[in-house]
Amino acid sequence: MTTPHLDAAPDLIADTVLLPGDPLRARHIADALFDDAREVNTRRNMLGYTGHYRGMRVSVMGSGMGIPSCAIYATELARVFGVRRIVRVGTCGGVGDIELGDILVAQAASTDSNFNRLNFGGHDLAACADFELTRAVVDGARGRGIGVRLGGVFSTDCFYAGDPQLTAHMLAHRIHGIEMESAGLYGVAMREGFQALSVLTVSDHLQRDIHMPPNEREQGLTRMTALVLDSLLPTPEG
Ligand code: HPA
Repeated sequence: MTTPHLDAAPDLIADTVLLPGDPLRARHIADALFDDAREVNTRRNMLGYTGHYRGMRVSVMGSGMGIPSCAIYATELARVFGVRRIVRVGTCGGVGDIELGDILVAQAASTDSNFNRLNFGGHDLAACADFELTRAVVDGARGRGIGVRLGGVFSTDCFYAGDPQLTAHMLAHRIHGIEMESAGLYGVAMREGFQALSVLTVSDHLQRDIHMPPNEREQGLTRMTALVLDSLLPTPEG
């Protein structure tokens, strides 16, 4: 079975998919964290891999940048491949007291995108993460003594320019981070009926104009992805 954007064989994608933006990061996650990783998608170079993490079958694939790209992959993964859990593992810009390297668990995603309105009769959708996934990652972090920030993020269509007042609006509404995909992922998950969550490493600070060097970005993301995978492992009670 293939779709317009995925050439994976039908049973080669796991029920749980990690979705970083960058396909090369998907390859890195598979190399660093999976046993027996196998390449399952190369269409458009949006590399995808399936393997096992401590016995749990899992896939990782790039989403590309922005809501339209992420939403295409999330929709096809759910509809055609029967994927039940998608966790975006990405980076974001922080505001206020958020520090570089902090991990944000995105409980809800506001947006300047029209994507969810197009699917929701022109109304504003409250794009929120799945509660069970959120709880699993927050509890997993607490159990390992890893600090995470739980709260809102903003998914923008404009990496450059956009609303000059956006940082002020984010701060006024206690929104911690900005990225470009979560609102669309959550909207697709609500419509298609799968579980979704975004877990984000803060790689930039909007007000302080500081940025994580690429090697630290990669290390931070790999550590964060290991935390996500540990949190998703089945518990003894099932
Ligand atoms: N804006 C949008 N997306 C991002 C940013 C940002 O500053 N940093 C990382 N992803």
